[in-house]
Amino acid sequence: TELLLRGRLLTFHDEPLAGDASPDAFTYIEDGGLLIRDGKIRAIGDYGRLRAGEGRNVEVIDHRPHLIMPGFIDTHIHYPQMQVVASYAGELMEWLNKYTFVEEQKFSNQGHPERIASAFFDELIRHGTTTAAAYCTVHKASVEAFFTEADRRNMRMIAGKVMMDRNAPSGLLDTAQSGYDDSKELIGKWHGTGRQLYAITPRFAPTSTPEQLELSGLLAREYPDLHVQTHLCENTAEIAFVAELFPWSRDYTQVYEHYGLLGPKTLLGHCIHLTDAEIAAIANSGSVAVFCPTSNLFIGSGLFNLARLEASHPPVRHAIATDIGGGTSYSMLRTLDEGYKILNIQGQRYHPLRSYYQATLGNARALSLQGIIGALTPGAEADCIVLNARSTPAMRLRMETVETLVEELFLMQTMGDDRTIAEVYIAGKPAKSLLAS
Ligand code: GUN
Ligand code: FE
Repeated sequence: TELLLRGRLLTFHDEPLAGDASPDAFTYIEDGGLLIRDGKIRAIGDYGRLRAGEGRNVEVIDHRPHLIMPGFIDTHIHYPQMQVVASYAGELMEWLNKYTFVEEQKFSNQGHPERIASAFFDELIRHGTTTAAAYCTVHKASVEAFFTEADRRNMRMIAGKVMMDRNAPSGLLDTAQSGYDDSKELIGKWHGTGRQLYAITPRFAPTSTPEQLELSGLLAREYPDLHVQTHLCENTAEIAFVAELFPWSRDYTQVYEHYGLLGPKTLLGHCIHLTDAEIAAIANSGSVAVFCPTSNLFIGSGLFNLARLEASHPPVRHAIATDIGGGTSYSMLRTLDEGYKILNIQGQRYHPLRSYYQATLGNARALSLQGIIGALTPGAEADCIVLNARSTPAMRLRMETVETLVEELFLMQTMGDDRTIAEVYIAGKPAKSLLAS
């Protein structure tokens, strides 16, 4: 059976560099139709024409006047930190030691990973996030629970077992060898199972020995199509600690470079305090700098300087993410809003069309998943969301003065949250309306 979604359709083909002035970057169809069969998008176009071409077997769901878009993609999130969000700490190291490492140890408790994983996917769906690149904990069971639940819901997810073998409580440590062996076992079991993808996940340089980073690099060479995810240059005390731990290294970035962990599948969380040499190394490797606005403000880490990263030759690839539980919202709309403010305060304007591009196709490209997710194109997986710009009384009132699509998008980014997500489709199946509330 086929599904035909009717509504105002918006999808991107490319980055809208000049905003309104780059109409080729996106398709907008006022009375659009999106034809879905077997979890994939089969056609997109004018509703009337698509309806006429289909038989009686097609089920029509009318979402007018709402906007139908590809699902949001979150490129950096910690599922074990759902109960860390809103922890009152000063800076990164205090926040990690006092709250995060305490909560993550609970993932050795029977039933805990399963309970949090289930709540996690409910929350992603509630906020319109259909794909995420997630950190689990050091425990294998945290990865099992994550992928089991993602697979049950048929959501396209990227995740990995955190590897950390020093500078954390003993309950959170693996060893270089066990981290390598456990990762290998999990890759064999989960990578490519249904929609699941495995990411090699050394937490960050301070919590791995040289031996562990060496074996992480070996995994990256053995499985070149896997993502690598880690953290880089989030905080100045963190950077000083890395300089102490790896005195031979020119800088923090060179530690990852030395162990073969940079490359086009590598996601580097934060990238705030970088030298010119580090920017060049990241750019030349094709690695992705992941902007985590609400986290960077909440933990007080600093301001992501996008213009500087883009001014390098070649430009640094970038993505945007929540970084829950350093981040404070599961919502990519809230995240785009805070990202806008961080860039604005540095004199950098970020057009609303660019924001929505980034949360969809831009992030899909950063994950090398273009053609699979992130756009409403025939053959792509049918993960999409329905946005309601009148989802609160204040938004409804403000919409009375809105005249253009760009203004509407900016309003949802600035005032919207989970209430703005009217429906979510995962591989062509409604998901948000089926959540227990
Ligand atoms: N650096 C190392 N681990 C973490 C983490 O869990 N969150 C953040 N924000 N930074 C980190
Ligand atoms: Fe993080």
